[in-house]
Amino acid sequence: MEMEDYIRKLRERKAIAAGTPKDAEAQHQKGRLTARERLALLFDPDSFNEIDTLVMPRYESYMGGKGSRYGDGVVTGFGLVNGRQVFAAAQDASVMGGSLGEMHANKIVKAMRMALAYGCPFVALNDSGGARIQEGVDSLAGYARIFDTNCEASGVIPQISVILGPCAGGAVYSPGLTDFIFMTENSYMFITGPEVVKSVMQENVSQEELGGGRVHATESGVAHFLATDDRECLQKVRELLSYLPSNNVNDPPYVPPRDDPERRCPELEHIVPVDPQKPYDVRQVIASIVDDGRFLEVHELWAQNMVVGFARLDGYVVGIVANQPQVLAGTIDIKASIKAAHFIRICDTYNVPIITLQDVPGFLPGTSQEYGGIIRNGARLIYAYSEATVPKLMIILRKSYGGAYCVMSSKGLRGDLLYAWPNAELAVMGAAGAVNILFRNEVKAAANPEARRQELIDEYQEKFNNPYVAAARGLIDDVIEPRDSRRVLIRALHVTLSKRERHVPKKHGISPM
Ligand code: HXC
Repeated sequence: MEMEDYIRKLRERKAIAAGTPKDAEAQHQKGRLTARERLALLFDPDSFNEIDTLVMPRYESYMGGKGSRYGDGVVTGFGLVNGRQVFAAAQDASVMGGSLGEMHANKIVKAMRMALAYGCPFVALNDSGGARIQEGVDSLAGYARIFDTNCEASGVIPQISVILGPCAGGAVYSPGLTDFIFMTENSYMFITGPEVVKSVMQENVSQEELGGGRVHATESGVAHFLATDDRECLQKVRELLSYLPSNNVNDPPYVPPRDDPERRCPELEHIVPVDPQKPYDVRQVIASIVDDGRFLEVHELWAQNMVVGFARLDGYVVGIVANQPQVLAGTIDIKASIKAAHFIRICDTYNVPIITLQDVPGFLPGTSQEYGGIIRNGARLIYAYSEATVPKLMIILRKSYGGAYCVMSSKGLRGDLLYAWPNAELAVMGAAGAVNILFRNEVKAAANPEARRQELIDEYQEKFNNPYVAAARGLIDDVIEPRDSRRVLIRALHVTLSKRERHVPKKHGISPM
């Protein structure tokens, strides 16, 4: 045979692996793209390098599945995203529904292990009917190997799951183990599908209602990002990666800033009402402070009383954790605790300084919170702040009450540089509540109880409920004018970037769960 014959045969095999226009058409009809079209959108143009294209199921009997094909239903490889190396696996729904058999799993694990060895992020594009039925336990064992590799890579390289079609059964646990989950509106994830739910629970529910992208972005919080379609989704993945380092020993990507680090923000004096009862959107505060107003919000649609996400200050990536007074008055509940704790751990893992913008009246009271375990879940937030060794900076914008003061990056939790605006209220509780408890008898006995009550409230407000008591004790580092917030944070960031803090050596702590 001549060389050109060999080349022709190679090309034939690769063409089989690539699938037919009919396969692509079937995906397009479902409003989805093919595995290779998705990878082309994820990676920089012409930078993706496929590996294991010619992998086949191990046993002949498996090939009885009529859709069997070179590649075994998943495309794996590496390439550049924003100029940096990233590994990926994209399930190919045109091969036996993208179902996962032994070699399919081996390909994914191999790519993950390479990503781990070379310190590169790993992105999994999921679109699969789950465990390949014909391969039985070999397929289940493959899932277990993937889960194990997810755990080993956790905290070392960024792991991102992108759900672009079905993801059902135990298959959901690989995404569940990763740092971030993206979903499209027409994708879905569930442990058991609508049929099982109907037979076991006598509950009628559609795929979308049970585990559609919107449900996981708004109700369960399983999805950190929601996109309308594959294209928008993969663009968002690229954006997220632009804020993350390649691995836990690298710093996040610095981008030379265009925004002036000394820029004053006088608008802040109007965005935040002095009246503590009045709500506002803390995202406007974030936009005013950060470089070019750019903020990538994580978990945008879930636990909206807490706002978290990535931004840059003077070109350096920072993670923002902010109470949101326009939702549940900014109180901290179970979901908000979990959301912030997860984000803080992500920041700490990937060397992203944490900026806390605090305006919090306290924890949300009530039986639903107590029965749901606010004690255990609120503790996660404390644990995450305490454990974080990255720079921890904070501005108290308005309210800072009670337990919420303690848990949100306080000095006691080794917050680095903490500031408050002059209108800030730092106390065990609000003035009215405090007077009711401390002076109940005195108010009752007064000639004019209401007037006396107001007098005592004013006195409390003046004496205790301000930032100066905390400033006098060094519990905050300075009281600043709102307009100086950006420049103060940037200067604080510069001095703390060299921070190197280590924990007492131990196997690992026992974070509340
Ligand atoms: C083998 C599968 C398959 C599977 C789909 N196919 N799922 N083959 N194992 N799990 C095949 C179909 O037979 C079909 O082959 C082709 O893929 C396309 O499937 P369709 O049903 O025609 O496609 P569509 O209408 O788009 O529906 C996709 C689907 C559906 C929603 C994923 O196929 C489906 O419900 N599949 C079963 C899902 C499931 O219950 N999986 C097991 C979950 S439990 P032909 O030859 O006709 O083209 C699990 C345990 C994991 O995964 C445990 C891990 C710890």
